[in-house]
Amino acid sequence: MQISSAIFHCSAPNLDACPDEFLPEFAFIGRSNVGKSSLLNMLAGEQCLARVSLTPGYTKLINIFTMNKTWRLVDLPGYGFAEGSKGESRRFNKAVAQYLKHRVNLCMVFALIESGLKPQEMDVEFIEWLTRNAVPFVLVFTKADKVTATTAQANIAAFMARIAAWFEQPPAIFTCSAETRQGRQKLLGVIDEAMTAIHAEVNKVPVEPETSQAKLPKTRKRGPDLQRPW
Ligand code: GTP
Ligand code: MG
Repeated sequence: MQISSAIFHCSAPNLDACPDEFLPEFAFIGRSNVGKSSLLNMLAGEQCLARVSLTPGYTKLINIFTMNKTWRLVDLPGYGFAEGSKGESRRFNKAVAQYLKHRVNLCMVFALIESGLKPQEMDVEFIEWLTRNAVPFVLVFTKADKVTATTAQANIAAFMARIAAWFEQPPAIFTCSAETRQGRQKLLGVIDEAMTAIHAEVNKVPVEPETSQAKLPKTRKRGPDLQRPW
């Protein structure tokens, strides 16, 4: 997949402030500092689209970017960073939970985990939360350039062993590096595949002419909402 345009759309403090639901969204989530914003930039092919920082907890809003005018990438605030004075959760903030649970046009979550670390309780708990809430996700092990392939593979195997019991079919795994661009085409392939499936479904199911977007129920459906005009 080629990226022909990548444009900042808006920053939303919560689900209600998010824009219309007409374009499929692909969101990045993971511990603070795991490399969400960097990965978004790497996929977009633009270094400065989402802000990257050494300071954990840097991304504080739901940042939405429109790609190729047809789908969106969403940079979410991370979990695991306590900023007590503002009442933000050590786990992950309420706005992120609401977005992940209720955003109807959320197609896929990229759940990021640092490949150089042994399984972290917080990540295991978070993956359990995603699973329990039936949020569609793939696992993306980040910063592969910082460790040997052997170390990364051992950490990934240990992580998968921790979560294996929850799935009949384990989630797809990707390894990436924002530094070397490793994994870029494979991750774009996930999006491409999802977009192809959405278009195939949209072509199969006729949209009722009288169905106004405003009247559509706000209940969350997993996968593409066939009544959406995408
Ligand atoms: P928050 O917004 O604070 O939750 O962080 P984030 O997950 O968005 O991480 P961010 O992309 O801001 O990156 C955090 C730090 O890790 C920055 O210093 C990045 O340069 C660095 N980093 C991110 N990805 C990679 C990578 O693939 N390899 C290396 N070596 N460093 C990376
Ligand atoms: Mg960030």
